[in-house]
Amino acid sequence: MPTPPPKLCTCFGLSAADLARLALERGLTSVDELSAASTAGTGCRTCVPDLEKLLEQLWKGQPKPAVKPATPADIVRDAIRPFLNKATWELQLIDVLEALVRIRAIPHGEKCREAEDTLRQFVENRLKEMYRPDAVVVFV
Ligand code: FES
Repeated sequence: MPTPPPKLCTCFGLSAADLARLALERGLTSVDELSAASTAGTGCRTCVPDLEKLLEQLWKGQPKPAVKPATPADIVRDAIRPFLNKATWELQLIDVLEALVRIRAIPHGEKCREAEDTLRQFVENRLKEMYRPDAVVVFV
């Protein structure tokens, strides 16, 4: 069995590869931008120097790329699912009606109401940031 890559941000279980991909796809050049998009660095903050190094290496000598518009399906697939612990939640995009995004959140095992609320808020924040600022997420 292959060894999983080491986590750069252990508080949120995020690897350098996932964070680098997100930064490149979204044109994120600062730790604040990367933290807002991924939650990396928003816990104990011990990984912040490593996040700075990662961004410095990624963008050294490169122009910031144009960011393509994202659909809710793109966002759920590329900017939300990779940052969920696959052992705890599965997300299925049901449909999108303008700003209303309906998602089925399937917990693996017992989850408290607060965990679902936290997940819904995380998903909604990503969609507000990347899709449209008035996005509302409903778990069905
Ligand atoms: S290791 Fe990243 S916030 Fe704690």
